[in-house]
Amino acid sequence: ATTAIALVMAAGAATAQEDACDDGEIVVKFAHVTNTDRHPKGIAAELLKNRVNEEMDGTMCMEVYPNSTLYNDDQVLEAMLQGDVQLAAPSLSKFETFTKVFRIFDLPFMFKNIDAVDAFQASDAGQSMLDSMTRRGLQGLAYWHNGMKQFSANVPLLTPDDAAGLKFRVQPSDVLVAQMEALDASPQPMAFSEVYGALQTGVVDGQENTWSNIWGQKFFEVQDGITETNHGIIDYLVVTSVDWLDSLEPDVRDQFLTILGEVTTARNAESYEVNQEAKQSIIDAGGEVRQLTPEQRQQWVDAMKPVWDQFEGDVGAENIEAAQSINE
Ligand code: LMR
Repeated sequence: ATTAIALVMAAGAATAQEDACDDGEIVVKFAHVTNTDRHPKGIAAELLKNRVNEEMDGTMCMEVYPNSTLYNDDQVLEAMLQGDVQLAAPSLSKFETFTKVFRIFDLPFMFKNIDAVDAFQASDAGQSMLDSMTRRGLQGLAYWHNGMKQFSANVPLLTPDDAAGLKFRVQPSDVLVAQMEALDASPQPMAFSEVYGALQTGVVDGQENTWSNIWGQKFFEVQDGITETNHGIIDYLVVTSVDWLDSLEPDVRDQFLTILGEVTTARNAESYEVNQEAKQSIIDAGGEVRQLTPEQRQQWVDAMKPVWDQFEGDVGAENIEAAQSINE
């Protein structure tokens, strides 16, 4: 079975790279972990690839490896520092070993919606975070939006008490671990590609993610339902290595970064809609989506928001204040 899966994956990767790179072109390998269809990151990565390959033909050539076919997020940054991959877009929860500044994005109920996230990222504080890992060899290039997170489990979740005692997969982030502990649940950090199997076999009971990821990975098939909590966000850092960026001729680098900037603006404006479509697809496929009353939602806020105090030192009280004033 392993061989069969490897063959299928190899075939998929080969068809995805139909416009093979020519001799002399700078090859940009972009590895990510999500699906490509009805997904903000998947769509943005394909658009970036198509534009680079068309507009920079003869100079630069991009290959996109989606669905964790090349690397998991916990391997991709090391691979980048080794020069094995040039571009990635892990969620902001996955940079913990390089910097703690992105922890603000994981704090529950910090941002009321993705527009607030966008405004914070565009501020001086958000823009300076792009440079927070240069000493470690990584350069942030842009923020890409996914959307708001929802909880799902193998039992209905309406109040925080329903989550108590359950095992939840989380991304590898101390804030997310603390968030689940605040619910008296048991956090299990795990790679994205392993979550469906872990939910299916009962290794974990639940998870938190965006509509596009719950749809793309089909988590709803192996969960009792999804509760619309909008309790946090998943956003991405498009990241490269300082060495690779420095190795580009200035005009090549400028053209590449201009295309990336345009793709970022265009696709970020559509991220909300892409998630709404994924939500509708889940409902159409028979997935159960539960709504909270305002009182129930307030119980989740009361249970999880105390986590902010634990991380105020890492993220800075001034950044928390800035994020909160954007929400108003
Ligand atoms: C996750 O691990 O749940 C997400 O970061 C996956 C992704 O890239 O959206």
